[in-house]
Amino acid sequence: MLGIILAAGMGTRMKSEKPKVMHKLLNHPLLEWVIDSFKDLMKEEQCDKIAVVIGEKMPEVEDFLQEWGTRNDKIVETFYQKERLGTGHAVKCALPLLEKEDADESVFILCGDVPLIKTETLKRMEKEFLKEKADGVVLTVNMDDPSGYGRIIKKADGMISEIVEHKDADAAQLKIKEINSGMYMIKSKELVESLNELNNDNAQNEYYLTDIVSLMNNRGKKVISVVTDDHYEVSGINNRVQLSQIEREARRRINERLMMNGVTITDPDNTYIDPACSIGRDSIIEPMTVIRGRTVIGINNIIGPMTQIEDCMIGNDNVIERSHLSGTEIKDNVKVGPFARLRENTILNSGVKIGDFVETKKTVIGERSKAQHLSYLGDTVIGEDVNVGAGTITCNYDGFNKHKTFIDDKAFIGSNSSLVAPVKIGKDVIIGAGSVIVKDVEDDDLSIARGRQVNFEHRGKELKNRLKKERLKGEGEI
Ligand code: UD1
Ligand code: CA
Repeated sequence: MLGIILAAGMGTRMKSEKPKVMHKLLNHPLLEWVIDSFKDLMKEEQCDKIAVVIGEKMPEVEDFLQEWGTRNDKIVETFYQKERLGTGHAVKCALPLLEKEDADESVFILCGDVPLIKTETLKRMEKEFLKEKADGVVLTVNMDDPSGYGRIIKKADGMISEIVEHKDADAAQLKIKEINSGMYMIKSKELVESLNELNNDNAQNEYYLTDIVSLMNNRGKKVISVVTDDHYEVSGINNRVQLSQIEREARRRINERLMMNGVTITDPDNTYIDPACSIGRDSIIEPMTVIRGRTVIGINNIIGPMTQIEDCMIGNDNVIERSHLSGTEIKDNVKVGPFARLRENTILNSGVKIGDFVETKKTVIGERSKAQHLSYLGDTVIGEDVNVGAGTITCNYDGFNKHKTFIDDKAFIGSNSSLVAPVKIGKDVIIGAGSVIVKDVEDDDLSIARGRQVNFEHRGKELKNRLKKERLKGEGEI
């Protein structure tokens, strides 16, 4: 099976420096949505390929396709359509690949700017194709207002005889409400033969891909339609208003799927979850929460409100409130926030508590340890049952290099301490509040590293009286 994705349009109405298909829908390029829906079809078949037809000079698209191909272990070939001479011409640009295909191989043609096409629908096209022993399938939809689209002309037996573009249609054809979605599945041999016969003798002087239908009919081939009643699935994106409308719909679908699978989403209109995220049963997602990237969330968590999570692995029974997490792994029964910031390579083991205004980076925290207030923990390894007092800072950076801090099990770090790395704090150590620790502390020791306290009898009151007198003098009262 072969997938050809048309993406040569620059998308001028996007008013952008970026190729249209690289604009993002829930953080993934439009093109990724399309190839992902096709990829899921490929799983069951082998030796499949994807061809993407782009205009000249779209390095951003090419880089993305290369990355996607590597990530998904699939072959993606890029073809160039230097001049936009029509959809038929665009497919023709992929002929070198088509000609290598087996004659009976089937070819899907999709559009790079129609992101919500569902794998199920592509599968349905394939099923009908096989069942009806067809040579081609056109995905169609019935539109109340079909203007602008190609109309589906059918024969008495229900097969499609031709597709007539709006600009070429006569009055009777214009009344037809069944339109061409622009997505097809065609037998390779028939596609190649038809492409070679295309001409641009029409209202727009373009090589219409749609003409392959009448050409196949001329050869006695069978073209059927598969209808979808989901308009979004065939909706292309031409401007940023449509992008936002499709994004809202994409989001609604993802949230609905999660809810149907047992996730509570308190306010789905204000919850933003990427397609690649998975969330387990009985987890509750509170409003204004954004979950992105390849995030996996287990069961029975409470996430949000107002939480942003990106590329994180989160276990079960955690509470994460008003916080910002990226590249973090959290085991079970952990409490985070409000107002925590957990950055790349943070690992929180079970039972950990991270409170407000705590930032972590490259830090592993052992079971049941706590850092509940106002801390920075960077390049740090913390054991089990450690208490990191309010205001503790690991000074990991000397202006040139990063250094590590180790804090062993059951250590107690008094509030407002600075641990100047590299430094090791042993088991059961107590660090006095306000300490600046620059040397290692052995197991069981108490370390206090601050100015010794001195109390002067009655001097407080005396000082106050003196200061009061001086002020009155200044104001001219004595
Ligand atoms: C096409 C169909 C029309 C259908 C409509 C659905 C033709 C002749 N008509 O219309 O029947 O109802 O889609 O949206 O095919 N593209 C290229 N190179 C080109 C022209 C187009 O790569 O030279 C790509 C576009 O980037 C887009 C896709 O093909 O992804 C469809 O192009 P578009 O201009 O939107 O389609 P229409 O010709 O309007
Ligand atoms: Ca169009």
